Amino acid sequence: MKKIENISFKKEYNKKENIILLLKGKKKSLPTQYLYDDIGSKLFEEICETEEYYLTRTEHKILNSNASDIIKISSAEELFEFGSGSSKKTKTLILSALKKNNHLTYFSFDISSKALTMSHDELSKISENLNVRLLKGDFNSDITRIKTNKKKRLYLFLGSTLGNFNDKVAINFLQNISNLMNKQDSFLLGVDKVKDENIINLAYNDKKGITKKFNENILNVINKEYKLNFNKNNFLHNAIYNSEKSQIEMYLESTVLQSIKLPNNEYLNIKKGEKILTEISRKFSDETLKRLFNKSDLHVAQSYTDTKKYFSLYLLKTKKYL
Ligand code: SAH
Ligand code: AVI
Repeated sequence: MKKIENISFKKEYNKKENIILLLKGKKKSLPTQYLYDDIGSKLFEEICETEEYYLTRTEHKILNSNASDIIKISSAEELFEFGSGSSKKTKTLILSALKKNNHLTYFSFDISSKALTMSHDELSKISENLNVRLLKGDFNSDITRIKTNKKKRLYLFLGSTLGNFNDKVAINFLQNISNLMNKQDSFLLGVDKVKDENIINLAYNDKKGITKKFNENILNVINKEYKLNFNKNNFLHNAIYNSEKSQIEMYLESTVLQSIKLPNNEYLNIKKGEKILTEISRKFSDETLKRLFNKSDLHVAQSYTDTKKYFSLYLLKTKKYL
């Protein structure tokens, strides 16, 4: 088994205090990253296979149709993917890049060990000319610790994971990537677009109930990490599109009046009907993207979409050298 390189900076301090603050807040929430333990990462892969979750299928198609163009325009000599998950969709880009390079390094960067293991299993047998590096870290706090080199790098952030960030975090992330980029580097961003809200709502409420399990699993993760006593049977999966904010909001809704013992031994009362936000998933308009790219010193070199314009890929360059 390939070694996972931990590049994370230990930041244990204030962790408990942060969780307490989020749960005691008027609008209760949990950090989205806790959706991805071993079980959560596997459940996410299952979500990608559901009939309703059009995102993965659509992005995969766009990638398959345009991989050689993306590799040609970027002249990529190295690939670096953030929140890579299983890397299944990235395979097509790797294969294209291998046609142009005798040797290729692909960096898979994720917070979940399970995701990194899946990525390794997906790619390890492709070619002996492919070097897969598994980097474990947090793409918000560890991004400035990433090492660069002289090779033309193509950074990747796929699956519309940018949609899981609010405006401030999104701009900060994109600006960090722009800062990392050399003149010759490129950045491929995959985002889900605004569309008929029924289609969006269905994607987060699949009939097999996998998204529900994925959402509920965050309670197991939090219980383990902070020795809490959340019971998933006391919550409903509630994922609904907020059209004003153009985002899915995924909640766990309490079905009873309940009391949870917090890490500071205080008790937190959660009323029946009260909701805990576990994830936002933004759907982007062209205007929003233009604003985000402008604010983070990025410009669009090329863009790709599908026939229904459900999903878009943007090949970006940094404005730093203009
Ligand atoms: N890019 C893949 C996976 C998307 S799921 C795809 O398009 O299918 C989101 C991925 O981001 C998961 O693998 C999850 O483990 C990872 N992730 C979530 N929060 C993270 C964080 N703070 N730092 C690094 N990776 C994170
Ligand atoms: C990873 N991320 C972009 C997914 C999304 O669509 O927001 C996670 C997800 N949540 C529920 N279903 C899938």
